[in-house]
Amino acid sequence: HALLTEIDQSEVASPEQLETFRLRYLSKKGVVTALFEQLKQIEPEQRRAVGQELNKLKNRAQERFQEFGQRLEASGPMSAGPTVDLTLPVVPNQLGSLHPLTIVRRRIIEIFERIGFNVAYGPEIETDWYNFGALNFPDNHPAREMQDTFFIEKNGGPVRDDVLLRTHTSNVQVRLMEHKRPPIRSIMPGRVFRNEAISARAHCVFHQVEGLYVDTNVSFRDLKDTLYHFAKEMFDKDSQIRLRPSYFPFTEPSAEIDVSCFICKGAGCNVCKYSGWVEIAGSGMVDPAVLSNCGIDPEEFTGFAFGMGIERITMLRYGIKDLRLFTENDVRFLGQFKGA
Ligand code: PHE
Repeated sequence: HALLTEIDQSEVASPEQLETFRLRYLSKKGVVTALFEQLKQIEPEQRRAVGQELNKLKNRAQERFQEFGQRLEASGPMSAGPTVDLTLPVVPNQLGSLHPLTIVRRRIIEIFERIGFNVAYGPEIETDWYNFGALNFPDNHPAREMQDTFFIEKNGGPVRDDVLLRTHTSNVQVRLMEHKRPPIRSIMPGRVFRNEAISARAHCVFHQVEGLYVDTNVSFRDLKDTLYHFAKEMFDKDSQIRLRPSYFPFTEPSAEIDVSCFICKGAGCNVCKYSGWVEIAGSGMVDPAVLSNCGIDPEEFTGFAFGMGIERITMLRYGIKDLRLFTENDVRFLGQFKGA
């Protein structure tokens, strides 16, 4: 009876207090359950009467619990009770933004996907074979030093067992050609690593997008047309491109691709160093030796490849002058690319 009075007199004002009420009177570990358990010890003649009293207690607790619940709900945060001040200013909704490198990577992928390229990925930790050997870099050849490599494990034995951080995304070229019969038409974005001092113009981690097209009758003209299309889509519909002879072990012939300066349009500016042209990619026809290394018959198939740095394209597009900004996570910098 003391408990019945207690239940009748209790009040709750918050969800927490409601829970305390539930725990005390209605849960398996509560006082009412404990009393029910003691029933067994009572003389059989009295058990019925006591049981009835206990049931009353339990029902009363349940009634009160429901009542409290309904009352709390009616005065909850959804009702404009006195505790809600609707005149308070709203908390501003802080929307994040995409990293400029993400914006540009997605744009590059979009441009190439529309002309039939798919996207492929490969490992950042690589063996010497996929990063250099298969790409026609001879063992111990100085061409390897064009790209300062981070070695994870350098074996004393034949160089091709070495494990390293890839210095370019060209390793994905090799892996694609090894596993797929032409036609292959893919672009391969990813992180690459070079042992270089960090400065405004260089970093030890950066991003590239590689492109590869292998099929019957792929020609140099296809390479030019594809990159011309890319330049117009990426920079300016009136962009021109220019090819300069270059050298890569895995392409022959090789060319550096320049795009007409879309900032000054030839009038002369700092970005193009008053030349009217900016370099955007390396490229060339896949060397027949590379095709053979990957199990593709160079008599039957030809291909072109190109590679570009995403940081470089992003810096050109947005006029960013220091590469380090990309990794410093300064919100004053990152916030400028909202909605871009
Ligand atoms: N892998 C080269 C680099 O990182 C770029 C490249 C890719 C050049 C494909 C030609 C063809 O410098």
